[in-house]
Amino acid sequence: MPFEDQMQAILDTRPPVFSFVFGIPSADMLEQCRKRNIVTAGAATTPDEALALEAAGVDLIVASGFEAGGHRPSFLGSTESSLVGTFVLVQQIKSRVRTPVIAAGGIATGKGIAAAMTLGADGVQVGTAFLACEESGAPPFHREILFSGAARNSALTRAFSGRLGRGVMNRIALETAGKEDSLLPFPLQSRFMGALRQAAMQQNKPDLFFAWGGQIATELRHRKVADLMRALIDETGAILR
Ligand SMILES: Cc1cc2nc3c(=O)[nH]c(=O)nc-3n(C[C@H](O)[C@H](O)[C@H](O)COP(=O)(O)O)c2cc1C
Repeated sequence: MPFEDQMQAILDTRPPVFSFVFGIPSADMLEQCRKRNIVTAGAATTPDEALALEAAGVDLIVASGFEAGGHRPSFLGSTESSLVGTFVLVQQIKSRVRTPVIAAGGIATGKGIAAAMTLGADGVQVGTAFLACEESGAPPFHREILFSGAARNSALTRAFSGRLGRGVMNRIALETAGKEDSLLPFPLQSRFMGALRQAAMQQNKPDLFFAWGGQIATELRHRKVADLMRALIDETGAILR
């Protein structure tokens, strides 16, 4: 679906929150969201990106640390120059903007939430811990890799989509390191790898299946969202009380 049609669908649907990565929507789009009371949230991987989001009038800034699972959402500098960890990034961004900051990357426990809030975050975003729960759209094969010993080694690679993203290290990530010139641009590389992904899953070959996920995968404890949410609320409350 063309980008403009996706934007129109958001305006028509009027979700409470519209979050985006890889850049900043047009001033007109942000204005249309404001008129409809749709809260906007944009991801930043550097203080400069946070300042650009604030200047555009975005309501919430997601400080995306390099521990996070999934794509690096950088949009101003090169992705390689935007690899700051969540602890440092939250502080760097918080001291430069007035917009509320959401910490993202490496948070899967109440201790992580309390730590991020102590550093100034106004909220947190948790990805990998929810991805690993039964209710997520990830296939069981993917979720089992996140819980396995393989998750001890994490990879930032372009091999699976054409954009730098984090998942569990596997043979393809290892063997394509340093050969980025031979990869297709985003998103063509993910289409190219799609058939292999399916086949790897069917043939039970985790070494050829990229399990998107963050460094915190080693600390996952919950397989049901209700259990995860209860633990996050209880642990955070006990520490911050
Ligand atoms: C498989 C996967 C897909 C993701 N897709 C998106 C996305 O489409 N949009 C977005 O804003 N964030 C996306 N994220 C990032 C999460 O929203 C969140 O910021 C991140 O996972 C937090 O770090 P954590 O994985 O260490 O918890 C994705 C993360 C993962 C693991």
